[in-house]
Amino acid sequence: MGGGERQASPAVTTEPAVRAARDSDLPAIVTIELECFRSDPWPRESFEGFIDRAGVTFIVAEDPDRQGAVCGYGVLMRAADEGEVLNLAVAGGSRGRGIGSALLRNLLESAKREGVRQVYLEVRESNAAALALYAAHGFAVAGRRRAYYQRPVEDALILQRVEP
Ligand SMILES: CC(C)(COP(=O)(O)OP(=O)(O)OC[C@H]1O[C@@H](n2cnc3c(N)ncnc32)[C@H](O)[C@@H]1OP(=O)(O)O)[C@@H](O)C(=O)NCCC(=O)NCCS
Repeated sequence: MGGGERQASPAVTTEPAVRAARDSDLPAIVTIELECFRSDPWPRESFEGFIDRAGVTFIVAEDPDRQGAVCGYGVLMRAADEGEVLNLAVAGGSRGRGIGSALLRNLLESAKREGVRQVYLEVRESNAAALALYAAHGFAVAGRRRAYYQRPVEDALILQRVEP
């Protein structure tokens, strides 16, 4: 190499690709679900039923640092002008890099396009990571369901986000 200009390195992006979930994603989704919600995971059939279902946005994120492997997913259901985030998870090895945020942003944008004005969800009150993520996206505590979760028993906080 002579004294020429430095070659530009290939573009590197940490932004995950987010797209609609499909049947071939189910094995990866079920694996992440088991890892994230060990005591009470959704079965494969629940996810299967949400693919291409009217009124439901079911998306996955592909990890750019893991050859585009599916590393997270989100599910939002709409009814009239309300939406509910039913599930959101990122594989342990892919956390802390904005993937949960990208999924949530995508769910909220798609809900807004469909006319949703307020979005709800339930979360364990000890789930600090999720609570911080939702707060950063404009959710506020709107209520509490006592002993809503089992194994271990814990209250759910009901969070609400009203479209600005
Ligand atoms: C909650 C979850 C989806 C976050 O995914 P993630 O990809 O790690 O989140 P991000 O990297 O996009 O972080 C976005 C914001 O969330 C918050 N956050 C994420 N992880 C956090 C942690 N461990 N502690 C505190 N805040 C955290 C921060 O506000 C962060 O913003 P910042 O990076 O600017 O500080 C992930 O931890 C997860 O899958 N947990 C298990 C499943 C779960 O609890 N799902 C929610 C059920 S309601």
